[in-house]
Amino acid sequence: MKAPIILGIETSCDETSIAVVNDTKVLSHVTASQINRHEAYGGVFPELASRLHTENIGYVLQTAIKDSKIKLEDLSAIAVTRGPGLIGALHIGLQTAKMLAARLQIPLIGVHHHAAHLEAARFMQPILYPALGLIVSGGHTELVYMARPLHYELIGQTQDDAIGESYDKVARMMGLAYPGGPILDQLAQKGKPQYTLPTPKAIGKFDFSYSGLKTAVQSLMQKEQHAKREINQVNLAFAFQQIVIQTLIDKLQLALQTIPVKSVIIGGGVSLNQTLRKQATLLSQQTKIPFIFPPTWACTDNGAMIALLGGEMFKAGMISSLEIGVDPSWEIQASMQK
Ligand code: KG4
Ligand code: ZN
Repeated sequence: MKAPIILGIETSCDETSIAVVNDTKVLSHVTASQINRHEAYGGVFPELASRLHTENIGYVLQTAIKDSKIKLEDLSAIAVTRGPGLIGALHIGLQTAKMLAARLQIPLIGVHHHAAHLEAARFMQPILYPALGLIVSGGHTELVYMARPLHYELIGQTQDDAIGESYDKVARMMGLAYPGGPILDQLAQKGKPQYTLPTPKAIGKFDFSYSGLKTAVQSLMQKEQHAKREINQVNLAFAFQQIVIQTLIDKLQLALQTIPVKSVIIGGGVSLNQTLRKQATLLSQQTKIPFIFPPTWACTDNGAMIALLGGEMFKAGMISSLEIGVDPSWEIQASMQK
């Protein structure tokens, strides 16, 4: 079968992103980021996100089609993020996808955003199955067992805040800009051990918990302020990052001791984290299991990963009805039922 040409649409959060992908070859990729517009709110403001997706999607779509140099009739299917994500933001992508699929008389494919974050690793190299997937993003922290292609079983998740969310909230407390993850990461690289923070404990064996850590950072900052000691931002970022990344490495290590896999995939915005990449490389050397990260351009939200997974689903006959709605809290297992 000739590799399908898929147009992928992503509007689940604060990026309007559309790409045309042929197997793992990206023919075009256009993203309108809203990050600067949400900065004033210290996080994504859902109403504003919907309005900006509506404003930007026409131009992004037109440019993605033009840049790809394909003719519309070359497209095999339209893939779109169906969930999880912000309800209003998802609607804009799905409506656009339905109109295109109906007009071109080609299949519509509703794609799970987190599964796509993992599949983005295929822009680097093929995934070796069975695989263990770790999704670390602004909205989720999930450990997923992938027994075979297009099969995702949730084995662990956060009990409270997502990892990216905790980065963003701690950065906000420290008076840093949004999104705080990349800023804290940069600061942490220059930091030294000075502050001690508690290691978060989750109830489930493969689960995560970050809200207690956020509160611990807050208490530490208050204590320092009362004592009239200036906070050393660089060292606080270092302490926070050490603990947070260690929780991920510990859970991965534990999972690898009990679940035999041939590769580990780490995707989502936080997979850009420098300390995580260094520690994961060490764990990969220790365990002799390859760890695959998506290329840096495909770690944060993008239409290319949606098109990539859409292509695999298309080949497997996993087509959606034109009557589907968005699913803001779609579970990853449920996404793969035909
Ligand atoms: O996957 P993503 O683009 O959007 C969601 O689906 O949530 O992830 C965005 C998240 C933000 O919370 C951002 O602060 C975090 O990824 N992030 C990082 C880094 N780069 C982005 N967190 C830690 N270190 C980084 N280098
Ligand atoms: Zn994402």
